[in-house]
Amino acid sequence: TQTHETMRTILARHKGQEGPLLPILHSVQAEFGFIPGDVVQIIADDLNITRAEVHGVITFYHDFRDAPAGKHIVKICRAEACQAVGGAAISERAFEKLGVGWHGTTANGAVTLEPVYCLGLCACAPAAMVDDTVVGRVDADKLDKLLAEAGA
Ligand code: FES
Repeated sequence: TQTHETMRTILARHKGQEGPLLPILHSVQAEFGFIPGDVVQIIADDLNITRAEVHGVITFYHDFRDAPAGKHIVKICRAEACQAVGGAAISERAFEKLGVGWHGTTANGAVTLEPVYCLGLCACAPAAMVDDTVVGRVDADKLDKLLAEAGA
């Protein structure tokens, strides 16, 4: 299959590398946008480790997803400067509006919600990011508007 072809290429690229699991997973996610379930066995076989070990690493590192991301990624800053000026309330509102928690994707597939730790926009906290665009001074209204524009 196409998946097996792609995996052969990725695994070949990391052959002999020390501590190959993380780099392999990063390559897989770059290629597919997430870590497809059937790939776990292929990686386990190749590295001579168990599925559980591969799975453990995928769930431990939150940058790996086990399902495709939504059309838009909304990140909300959880670092100190943003928390100090209402960042937590913005997160809470996003959970409520989207009906998901961190790393969750809305039922309509429009938005995936991710935490982020400082966007370098502390002077305009609380900060958020929608795809590649950073947004400062996010309040409830601004958040609602961002989410609506993202199709949530
Ligand atoms: Fe949120 Fe820096 S702490 S942008």
